Amino acid sequence: MQPKHPNDSVCIMTDLVLPSETNPLNNLFGGELLARMDRAASIAARRHSRRIVVTASVNHVAFNRVIPLGSVVTVEAKVSRAFKTSMEVYIDVWIEDRESGIRSLANEAIYTFVAVDETGRPTPIDPIVPETDLEKERFEAALRRKQLSLVLAGKMKPNEATELKALFQ
Ligand SMILES: CC(C)(COP(=O)(O)OP(=O)(O)OC[C@H]1O[C@@H](n2cnc3c(N)ncnc32)[C@H](O)[C@@H]1OP(=O)(O)O)[C@@H](O)C(=O)NCCC(=O)NCCS
Repeated sequence: MQPKHPNDSVCIMTDLVLPSETNPLNNLFGGELLARMDRAASIAARRHSRRIVVTASVNHVAFNRVIPLGSVVTVEAKVSRAFKTSMEVYIDVWIEDRESGIRSLANEAIYTFVAVDETGRPTPIDPIVPETDLEKERFEAALRRKQLSLVLAGKMKPNEATELKALFQ
């Protein structure tokens, strides 16, 4: 197993918001943004694992700001933590001001992907070593989020979620 860094997995996708992708208020439709994030995140997960990857869960999505028709939207996805066969991918969504070119954070999301073999069975992946302060912060919190996701999915008993319990002690 060869340790990798979050930057080895980064996937940046920039695209416009077209009329067919908007809601009745002429802002980007939420499902369209979810699909763009899923695509970018799956590429990041694939770059980290070099395996077939599938979306196991969408752990968190915050539609903090509307994204108007015509916006230039950049979706940036990076693996924040690798477990045995699963990976947490953190996604930041930026929009760009037309006149100044300054980018501002519009939304963010966290997805979980699982690396699988040709028969769809989960398969082990390389570990990840965070480098920057932000990567370290996201790495540290990822186990807590994994446990929360598993508890909500009924795949872990709440009393086994040690990281989550530690938050309340
Ligand atoms: C995701 C999938 C491969 C998991 O299979 P499984 O039989 O549950 O496998 P396991 O229980 O061994 O779990 C594999 C890993 O996924 C993690 N996992 C499974 N469900 C999870 C969830 N809801 N949240 C977070 N992690 C999850 C497990 O913790 C485990 O991680 P680890 O090996 O890093 O510790 C399987 O459920 C699947 O193929 N789902 C369909 C995926 C798909 O088609 N996605 C596209 C959407 S249509």
